[in-house]
This record gives sequence, structure tokens and C-alpha cells, in this order.
Amino acid sequence: MKHLIDKLYETHNLEEDEFIYLLENYDKEAGDYLYSLARTCSQVHYEKEVYIRGLIEFTNYCKNDCYYCGIRKSNKNASRYRLSKDEILSCCESGYELGFRTFVLQGGEDPAFTDEAVVDIVKTIREGYPDCAITLSIGEKTYDQYLKYYEAGANRYLLRHETADEEHYSLLHPGSLSLENRKECLRNLKKIGYQVGTGFMVGSPYQTPKCLAEDLAFIKELSPQMVGIGPFIPHKDTPFASFPAGSVDLTLFLIGILRLMLPNALLPSTTALGTLDPKGREKGILSGANVLMPNLSPIGVRKKYELYDNKICTGEEAAECNVCLRNRVASVGYHVVEKRGDFKE
Ligand code: SAM
Ligand code: FES
Repeated sequence: MKHLIDKLYETHNLEEDEFIYLLENYDKEAGDYLYSLARTCSQVHYEKEVYIRGLIEFTNYCKNDCYYCGIRKSNKNASRYRLSKDEILSCCESGYELGFRTFVLQGGEDPAFTDEAVVDIVKTIREGYPDCAITLSIGEKTYDQYLKYYEAGANRYLLRHETADEEHYSLLHPGSLSLENRKECLRNLKKIGYQVGTGFMVGSPYQTPKCLAEDLAFIKELSPQMVGIGPFIPHKDTPFASFPAGSVDLTLFLIGILRLMLPNALLPSTTALGTLDPKGREKGILSGANVLMPNLSPIGVRKKYELYDNKICTGEEAAECNVCLRNRVASVGYHVVEKRGDFKE
């Protein structure tokens, strides 16, 4: 096992059967070895700095029906909301005061936010906060739409590919969505010049070690600046309500692998990790992650952006989360920095 981890550290890649072997056979000793190399790697590029991104969940309306997602359009129990432009701007204002220099606008695919509306919001944030990065995470759009947002001032885009296996993709999504289009969107975003983030859920229903090896191969080929992974967590009002949650240990092991594959990537330690394990986000950092994405959404809507059951940090003010996270990061010997935290070439 150790020789495969050494090979990954030296060459930044493995063959599919080698990844599958690692994922099926890793144990605590292999994990500890991987994480120590992953920490070395992240510290070479980013020292012990952890970047924070202020997440603004601005709409939970969605025209899609992904089987795993709590805000899917068929969930009649979801209480829907949209933030107004002023509400979004006031999230940015309080976030800036708390030290955030990246705002992530995330939402379902909500047709009410037309291109004009998105462009207007992005332009206003760009003018008000010229020193901040603006990240969009609003799903699949055409090349021209992505270009408009970029020209308005957006710099980064998060779009997880979810799974790189065709058959697995069709088990997670209805026929209206395709892996081919998802990949095309990611390639277009890169072409335009966005810093691009992709990723997947760990332990989603029907996922096999082979699917994960395909995810890793796709990520290597795309070579994104950011990779977000987190455990799948069931939501009670979805078709996947009775599936088990993904494994925290496997998620951490994959974070370690990703750090060795893409040594200078921006890797978040996700809220889903913190939801399954009270120390999940700290463990993510110790496995090679270097980004946290706390919530800046108004407290009144937090619970409504419920992608999965028992999501944490829905009852705390942004200021409380900010202090809590800084303490958590410090407890493992790292520190939060107030920078844009761009990808380092
Ligand atoms: N609509 C945008 C998109 O499709 O990229 C952004 C919002 S979408 C809800 C953000 C991410 O949440 C998805 O990429 C998915 O990986 C994750 N997610 C959704 N349901 C989840 C669940 N039940 N457990 C863990 N993560 C989930
Ligand atoms: Fe929100 Fe800890 S990060 S309460």
C-alpha cells in the first residue's frame, strides 16, 4: 500500500486498478501515511493557511430533480425562498466586515434569476468589492451565459461533476441531465478563464470503487483549480431517503489522494463532513484540505437550503460561525487568513 502512496506522491497519478486497490484496502496506517504526505504537500504551496469563502445560498428553487438533493423540484415539502438583490448585498457587506474576500453565490437552477439578473448582481458586487473574488455555483448554462457572467466580474465557478461513470450518473439523475453536458460545461468554464471547481459525493447510492477511480481520472484530466468532495447524506424527502450516508474515513482518504494528485489545488473541508462528524472539518484540514466555506446566508433561510438531513450551522449567525471556525482551525495548528485565496499556479 505504502509503495502506491509513494508513487502517487512522486508522479501525482496512479492507474485505475491501483486506485481501486487503495480504496478497497486502505487501513489506519495507510491513512496516517497518506495524510502526513498530504499535509507536507499543502504546506509547500499554502503553508498552514486556510482560506474562507462566504457562502450565500440565494435561492432554493430548482428546475432539476436530482434524486439525492433535498431542494429537488419534486420535493413538495421544501419551503422555497429567493433572496433579493439587496439581501444578497447585505450578506456581502457583513461578510466583508468579518474578513471574507470571496463570496460564493450558490443556488438551485432557478429560472427566475435570468441572465440579466445574475449579471446585475455580479456587476454590483464587483463594483462594491473590487478586492474580492466572486464565485458562482448555479449549475449548467451555455458557453455564452458563462461568458456573460465572467465579463460581469465573476472569477470562479463551482460545478461538481457528481460522478464520472455514465451508468452511475443515470442512477443519480433523471434523463434530462447528462454526464456529457456536465463535462462540456466544465470544459467551457475553463476555456473562458474561470478558476473551476468540480467534485463529487462520497458514498452516493450505487457508487463503487471503480466509479471513484473514474472520478479521480476525470479530475486529473480536467485539472481543475478546486475540488469539492463531501459525504453523501440522505434527505428524508428524496428517493434516496433510505440509503446510508457516505463514510467520513473514505472522504478523508480521498481528500488525501486529491492533495497528492493536484498538489496546489484548493480543497474545501466541507459542511457535509462536519455534519457527519463533529470534528470532520478539522480532520479534513489534517488530511490535506485548505478551504472552508461557512454560511453567510440570512439566518431565516438557512434551514430551508436543506440539501440533506441535519445540516449543521443553520442556527448560528455568520459572526458566530466565523469565530467558531477560526477556533477549530487553530485547534489543529492552522490559521484562517483574510485573503482572496486564489489558486497558485
Ligand atoms: N445547482 C448547483 C449545481 O448543481 O451545481 C449548485 C447547488 S447543488 C445543491 C450543490 C451540491 O450539493 C451538489 O453538487 C451536490 O454534490 C451536493 N449535494 C446535494 N445533495 C446532497 C446530499 N444529499 N448529500 C451531500 N451533498 C449533496
Ligand atoms: Fe457554524 Fe461552527 S461553523 S457554528
